[in-house]
Amino acid sequence: MGIKFIKDKKVFKLDAKDTSYIIAVVDDEQFIGHVYFGKRIIDEDVNYLLRLEEPPYVPSKNNRDRVSFYDSFPMEYSTHGIGDFRESSLQLRDRDGNTACRLQYISHEIYKGKKKLKGLPATFGDENECTSLEIKCMDKDLNLEVDLVYTAFENLDAITRSVRIKNCAEDSIALTKVLSTCIDFEGINYDMISLHGSWARERHISRKNISYGKHTVSTVRGESSHQDNPFIALLDSSATDESGNVYGFNFVYSGNFFTQVEGCQFDTTRVVMGINPVDFTWVLEKNEEFVAPEVVMVYSDKGIGKMTRTFHDLYRNNLIRGRFKDKKRPILINNWEATYFDFNTEKLLSIAKEASSLGIEMLVMDDGWFGKRNSDNSSLGDWIVNEEKIQGGLKYLVDEVNKLGMEFGIWLEPEMISPDSELYREHPDWAIKIDGRTPALCREQYVLDLSRKEIVDYIYECIKKVLSSANITYVKWDMNRQITDLGSICIPAEKHGELSHRYVLAVYEMMDRLTTDFPHILLENCSGGGARFDPGMLYYSPQIWCSDDTDAIERLKIQEGTAMVYPISCIGAHVSDCPNHTVGRTTPFETRGHVALAGTFGYELDVTRIPKEDREMIPKQVEIYHKYNDLIRTGDYYRIENFSQNNCFDVWEVVSKDKSEVLVTCVQVLGRPNYHSRRIKLKGLIEDKMYKLEGTDELFSGGALMYGGLNISLYGDYSSKLLHLIQL
Ligand code: GLA
Repeated sequence: MGIKFIKDKKVFKLDAKDTSYIIAVVDDEQFIGHVYFGKRIIDEDVNYLLRLEEPPYVPSKNNRDRVSFYDSFPMEYSTHGIGDFRESSLQLRDRDGNTACRLQYISHEIYKGKKKLKGLPATFGDENECTSLEIKCMDKDLNLEVDLVYTAFENLDAITRSVRIKNCAEDSIALTKVLSTCIDFEGINYDMISLHGSWARERHISRKNISYGKHTVSTVRGESSHQDNPFIALLDSSATDESGNVYGFNFVYSGNFFTQVEGCQFDTTRVVMGINPVDFTWVLEKNEEFVAPEVVMVYSDKGIGKMTRTFHDLYRNNLIRGRFKDKKRPILINNWEATYFDFNTEKLLSIAKEASSLGIEMLVMDDGWFGKRNSDNSSLGDWIVNEEKIQGGLKYLVDEVNKLGMEFGIWLEPEMISPDSELYREHPDWAIKIDGRTPALCREQYVLDLSRKEIVDYIYECIKKVLSSANITYVKWDMNRQITDLGSICIPAEKHGELSHRYVLAVYEMMDRLTTDFPHILLENCSGGGARFDPGMLYYSPQIWCSDDTDAIERLKIQEGTAMVYPISCIGAHVSDCPNHTVGRTTPFETRGHVALAGTFGYELDVTRIPKEDREMIPKQVEIYHKYNDLIRTGDYYRIENFSQNNCFDVWEVVSKDKSEVLVTCVQVLGRPNYHSRRIKLKGLIEDKMYKLEGTDELFSGGALMYGGLNISLYGDYSSKLLHLIQL
């Protein structure tokens, strides 16, 4: 286990639970090569995989074909401009405008545990959980140090990578591309999975066969985005949920990212992932460092499902922090779909009163409580309570809600500024924009130039004041537009490309301040629904609003895609009113509850106005939530049937870690005439143990449930069912 350096072979062997990752230093010139990534092997020297005895050979044996070497050797970290014409990971502009870079091994360090990444979110682990390796390499001509940083987790098939670059030269140097991982895989016949979408249909699963050429997933929207998620999986084209090799890559970053799978000329496949080089530059003065964010790499020898469960375990244990890391979250009711901007103290209290009597535990006041915000066209930046709506003030409202036995949460959008705001009238230059050009509005708002410390400080103090003014225990941190017209009056031309990354770093800094100053607050990230559903955000908030689309059926695909990578304990999911506000669909209240259970669970409706029959179901749903949430939050998640593939039926299950309990959720999207019941085969149980189906006397062995299956009958469109089985 852990990480070893085999000195005589110059090999680094990183062993995670059932995974090996091998790097070798070769040739007199100390090139760093990627040897192996896959199922754990006992060998320490598998350098034959590098084919160094075949043409074009290493440069010390065949310097005339140096370019051929560069262009075929599996570089552990590819650099631009020297002959490796596949995707580079590092590109720069030196004093003379040259862009090439060549790295050679210098030294290394291996240590137990994992260091923090300065200013960036990242997975963490103590000395018993992981071992880290830092390989120092250098471009001696440029006097540029590049540290390749790795961590292997002992009990999980996860390896992380990041990169640290230091300019040791006298002159400044501009980094124009710094990716965080690069791996060359043998072979060309892979599939690639990525998560795509748009507002209200985030993270739908896309799987395609890749071959030669470049297959890119990226964003330049300034946020990780609705459209593309910073995740890809490379998998055997024959891999299924249960079988085959799968390599998952997830970028711990919330801004512009770039990831690419490239089928190359000698039938190898290169995967890279990192900050998008578009609109990126980072100038390093003498002795300055740049730290590239972390990529989490998960290997599964048993299909997509095992990859999923590894990501879930890693994120629940080694990424999510804070008071709610391992805790059940309060069931909240959010007034957004209930009232939109049309609310006041009285209305909110009437919702709270009814909600508390039904067992709901927290009221969240959404957008519209500040400045003059009665629609989405004003007041962002004016974080002052509008006492015309919140009569009696915020503290009064919160106290009244508390008196009902409920907690209180609030919506904020700290990164934004409305042109129609006091803040903008006073500081028109605080918005990101290009001098002399009219900036593009989006939802009638601009983005604050958070690369400026005085703006970060000002906004943070405003929200701190609000959060300190009453007993607020939850914040929904929203971010409702993409970033355009990149310009800052405080960034000089040569550093212009730093703005996007500086913006993301500032958001992290603000969230860090908030979670440090208010450790009791449950932070839920949100971005026009789920446009920033990424591991970077999970480091600060244990849950993220998954989508503005709360329709139970639309949510099946959104939550299936999201849960492929992210634990269901962090998926913000609410029961809302029907006809659904996004798609106009009417689904049974019960089904809406079952689907929201595969997430944080809450309500987003006017509980005083929904049909009586629906309202009467809430106490039962609350009871179900409390009964199953420990299992749902901490268990292993398995996909049984995928609506994304079959278009009519969805089944997932959560099995407790000790396999003694399983909760199965079945949703029939469309009823079928004249068929037998559906047969579903459970997963992850103990074959020769007996399980009892709750509410019946029926007993089944784990084997019967997994290999024989259960017969499920559902009647009607959008109908659903929960099945709970407990081991005897
Ligand atoms: C975004 C969020 C919604 C709601 C609105 C308020 O769209 O995703 O849940 O908070 O903003 O403006």
